[in-house]
Amino acid sequence: MSAARPEREPRLAELAAVLRDAASVTVSTGAGMSAESGVPTFRDTQDGLWAKYRPEDLATPEAFAADPAMVWDWYEWRRTRLAGLNPHAGHRALAQLQDCLAAVTLITQNVDGFHQLAGSAQVLELHGNIRRNRCAAGHRSPWQAGVAERPPACPQCGGLLRPDVVWFGESLDSRTLEAACEAAAQCSVFVSIGTSTVVEPAASLGRVAAAAGATLAEVNPQTTPLSALSEYCFREPAGKVLPELLRRVQARGSA
Ligand code: OAD
Repeated sequence: MSAARPEREPRLAELAAVLRDAASVTVSTGAGMSAESGVPTFRDTQDGLWAKYRPEDLATPEAFAADPAMVWDWYEWRRTRLAGLNPHAGHRALAQLQDCLAAVTLITQNVDGFHQLAGSAQVLELHGNIRRNRCAAGHRSPWQAGVAERPPACPQCGGLLRPDVVWFGESLDSRTLEAACEAAAQCSVFVSIGTSTVVEPAASLGRVAAAAGATLAEVNPQTTPLSALSEYCFREPAGKVLPELLRRVQARGSA
C-alpha cells in the first residue's frame, strides 16, 4: 500500500477518476467533518469535548439515571450552540457528490444533522441525532428550544425525554449498523473523513471495506489507524478537499 505522495493535485485528480469509475462508494464521516462549522470534535487535544468533560459523567445511561438535569443541561448547551451553526462547503460538496456518482452511501458518527441540512439524503446516523429526543419507550420527538423542564416529559407517554443519541455502553440501532456494514463490505471505494477511527463499531467499517478489496481514501489533517490501509490520504481539512474533489469529478464528467 503506498503512503500519501507529495504530488497532491494529480492524486486528487486520480481519486476523482477512481470515484467516477466506482460501481459504489461508501463515505464515513466523523466529528472533524463538522469542525469547520464550529462544532468541537471529541479528541482534539485543545478543543475536543473529551479534553474538557468526562464522557462517563455526561454520555452514559448511568450518568442520566444519576442526574438527568445535569446531562440534559449539557446537551442543551450543545444543542443551543449548534442552532447558530451551519453546514460548510465540504458538507455541500458531499451532497453534490451523491448526485453525480453512482450509489453513494453516507455513514456518519455525527449527531448534528448537518449532512441532511446540506442536502444529503438517506444518511446512516450511527450515533443518532441530537436534534431529536426519545423516551425509554422509544417515542421520538423533535428537540425544541426554551422548554423549562429539565428534562421534559414525553408528549406520548409522559416518560423522561433524553437526547436521541447513542451513549457509551449502549447499542447502536441494529438496522442502521447492518446497513452500514453492508455498505462497507460491498463498496468499491471507501472514503473516511474527519474521524479518529478509534470508536467501535464505526472504526471497523474501513477495515471491513479494505478486507473486501475496496480502495480506501482518507481526508484528515492527522494520521489515524486507517491511514496505513488508505491508498489516498489528504492531510487537509474536509472543507478544503471536498469542494476541490467535487470540481474534479464534475470536470471529468463533462469531458
Ligand atoms: P474524534 O474527535 O475522535 O476525531 C476527530 C477527527 O477529525 C480527528 O482525527 C481530527 O484529526 C480530524 N479533524 C479535525 N478537524 C478536521 C477537519 N477540518 N477536516 C477533517 N478532519 C478533521 O471524533 P470521531 O472520530 O467522530 O461518540 O469520534 C467518534 C465518536 O467518539 C463520536 O461519534 C462520539 C465520540 O465519543 C459518541 O458520543 C457515542
